[in-house]
Formats: sequence, C-alpha cells, structure tokens
Amino acid sequence: MAEEHSNLDPEDWSQFRAEAHRMLDDMVDALAQLRQRPVWQPASEAVRALFDAPLPTAGQPLAQLHEQCMESILPYVVGNAHPGFMGWVHGGGTPVGMMAAMMAAGLNVNAGGRNQIALDVEQQVVRWMRDLLGFPATADGVLTGGTSAATVIALVSARNEALDAGGELSRLVAYASTEVHGSLRRALMVIGLDAAVQLQAIDCNAQLQIDLSRLEAQIAEDRAAGLQPWLLVGSAGTVNSGAVDDLSALAALARAHGLWFHVDGALGALAMLAPEIAPRLRGIGNADSLAMDFHKWGQVPYAAGMVMMRDGAQHRRHFMAAEHYLQRDAQGLAGHSPWPCDFGIDLSREFAALKVWMTFQAYGSARLGRMIARGCRLAADLAARLAAMDDVELMAPQSLNIVCFRYCGGAYDEVALDRINRELVRRIQLSGLAAPSLTCMGGRAVIRVALVNHRTSLQDIDRLLATMQSALEATLAGDGRIGEG
Ligand SMILES: Cc1ncc(COP(=O)(O)O)c(C=O)c1O
Repeated sequence: MAEEHSNLDPEDWSQFRAEAHRMLDDMVDALAQLRQRPVWQPASEAVRALFDAPLPTAGQPLAQLHEQCMESILPYVVGNAHPGFMGWVHGGGTPVGMMAAMMAAGLNVNAGGRNQIALDVEQQVVRWMRDLLGFPATADGVLTGGTSAATVIALVSARNEALDAGGELSRLVAYASTEVHGSLRRALMVIGLDAAVQLQAIDCNAQLQIDLSRLEAQIAEDRAAGLQPWLLVGSAGTVNSGAVDDLSALAALARAHGLWFHVDGALGALAMLAPEIAPRLRGIGNADSLAMDFHKWGQVPYAAGMVMMRDGAQHRRHFMAAEHYLQRDAQGLAGHSPWPCDFGIDLSREFAALKVWMTFQAYGSARLGRMIARGCRLAADLAARLAAMDDVELMAPQSLNIVCFRYCGGAYDEVALDRINRELVRRIQLSGLAAPSLTCMGGRAVIRVALVNHRTSLQDIDRLLATMQSALEATLAGDGRIGEG
C-alpha cells in the first residue's frame, strides 16, 4: 500500500498552482461580471442537500471542490457584492480586499500578539482611525469582527469604571434613542445588565435623532429615583434610517452628567472620509468609546470592525490578563507588548488588519470618501423621485445613504398595505434585479433601501424603480408574476 503523503501540502506544487490560478481567475471573473448574474437567488433543495452530507473521511481533489464552490456556493450567497444589492447595511467588498484576504490566509498569522509586523499594521490602522475621528493620542483601539463585538469591549470598560467608582451593577442605567441598534441590548446582556429594565430608550425628534430634552429629563428622573445614570449611546447613523444623533451635544451632556459616552459608528463613522458629510458627525471624537465597521462603508471584505477607546491605559487595565504562558519580554518573540489580546476578548485572531490596511492603501481615503458621498447623493435622488410619486410615502427623513418608504396607493387598509409592501420586497428580491430589504416603522411594514455598495449607480436605482413598478402591478393583480424590470 502506498504511504500517504506525509503532510498537507500538495505533492505536486505545479498542479496546485495551476488549479489555484483557475480559482483566482474564476473569482476575478465573478467580480468583473457581477451584473450578468442575479443579485440574489434562493438555493434549491437539491443544492441545500449537498450540505447535509456527513463529515468526509477521505479527501477530494481541489479541482472538484473548486467546481462545487462555483456551482453550489457562489450563485447562492446573499449578493451584497452586486450593485443591485440595497438591503440591510452590507458593504460590497473590493478586488483588492479579496487579494488581501488571500494574502492573510496564506500568511496564517495569529494576530493576537507576539513580536511580529502584523501588530504594526493593525496599530497603523488604529492610528489612522484615531486621527480621522479626532480622538486624542491617548486613545487606542483593536480590530474586531464587527461593531457588535466592539460594543461589548467598550461596555466592559464602561461598566468596570462605574463599578470601580462605587457603582452598583443593578442600578446602572444606559440611555440611547429608540432607534439604537439591537447590538447595544445584546452587549448590555453580555456584561450582565438587564436591558429590558436598564436601558432607557428615549424618544426621537422629527429627524429620528435622540430628543435631548427628554433625555435630560429622564436622567434627572432616574437619579432622583436612586438609580445610577451611567452610559449614553449616540448613533452616528441609525440602522433604520441613517439618522445621526447630535454627537457634540450628547458628548457635552454626558460630561455634565458624569456619563460614559459611547458612539455606535457602525454605519456612519467612515463618513468622516467625505468632507461634505463629516460636519454632521461633529463631536464624534469626544466619545469615551466608539464602535465601527470597515466591512460596511469601508468596503473591506467581511468581517472587520474596530473599537476605539479614549483612555488607552484604562482600556488595557480592564483587559490585560496575566497568563503565565503569555509573558512578555524585551526581546525575542515575546516582545512588542502590548498585544491586541490585551485590548479585547480574542486571543487567537485573524490578520484582519491586512485587508483594511490594503484597502486604504490601494484606494486612498479620498476615493473611499467620494464613494460614500456618492451613495448619499444617490439616496437623496431616490428619495426625491419617490416623494414625487402619488402612491408612495417616505417613512423617514432621508439621511445619509438610506431611504425608507412604502406603497400607500389604492383604497387599502393598513393591514392590506403591510401585506402589499411585504410582497413588493419579496417580489423585487426574487426578480434578481434589485434587493432592498424590509423594516418596520411605527408598526408598519416599510421598504428600506441602503446604498452602501460602491458599485451601485444611477442605473441600479432606475432598475429598482422599474422592478418595483412591475412588482406592484403583479402584486395588485395577484397573478404571481415576478417583477420584470
Ligand atoms: C447602526 C448599526 N450598529 C451596529 C450594527 C452591528 O454591526 P455588526 O454587524 O458589524 O456587528 C449595525 C449592523 O448593521 C448597524 O447598522
């Protein structure tokens, strides 16, 4: 019996290289020809069944796996690389980001720490963001899988500071607008608070920003009731409508009341790259902590986010764990302390900084900023066109890159209108021509378009509107046709 090859590298590197080149060519073609494919299509039961097979004992040739990826995976992902994707808040990725992810996987760096250049790359990215956002030199940060994880890290520090100052966990109260993202509730839960009781969701003004006078009144009321106002969260772009809270007023209010000020910058922090939008984020650098994403408006392939902490020394105090096998030294591989694992939850981490770093290096901050500004202009244009239609109502002020609207024509009651709007979204998605998503505002079903992808152009907005028109005709006729824009 022939002895098995003694390690996992290819026996024939030239054969591997040829197949690897074919894989790369296929992915480059897939990106170059995005418009030739549907934005999204559901996978058939037969395709899904392929992923029901048991753990394989024997391996398969790479060529076979490559084919399976192309036939059974590539056509059925969510479609956010496609210019017609307009749902949720998904970045489109870039070819450079794809290559960076491949380089990072090839290097197989564990970016948790040790004396290696990957840490310098990450620190440079953090410094770029620190300066862009206007944080002081004392600030530090660490890359995370996204804003949800970044928020947990920020809130651990905020909670520990409050407890160190004599606070009582069960009396701490957090404040945010009713529009705040659900990741805040989850983070509160993770750090041991009861979000149902300890998060005060403050009503918004007409612009869907947190109402400052209601906020102040609530803080005063809670303090009078013996509670401990602790955390104030501002949104630099809410997920539903893109509303930006008045961050500089919130920062001042937090200082005046002794609250920790955290900013959710998942969606909007990178709008600091666009000079025409940056003034709306005034005050963002006054936060005690900030969570943000690169995989949204930064167009970095998933997943990459970051937490930024105003007081770096304080941050490290809360996370540095003295593990005997992770001790540091002035020289050798144990040098270059502090390490990313001293700033967050993960010890072993991917080298996500490389794809962020390469994206900024390849495209430059000005060009990325122009992409962001263009998405906002497209959103304003779409909102104006929708507002001019008799049977459509805008459901929120258009802000940043998001437009929320619903069909409101005919003599239908609210229940029927909800059903029609849900059906519209479903039909548009199934058409493969565009993919908005659905949200809920004031208890009503609302169509939501978020223009995050740098590839989306006016042509895609035209196609969305044409597809919506045929989807509407089919929905009202109830004839089962799918939008044929
Ligand atoms: C405003 C806002 N905050 C937080 C998040 C959560 O970010 P992530 O998915 O990177 O964890 C999102 C995601 O869409 C968001 O839009």
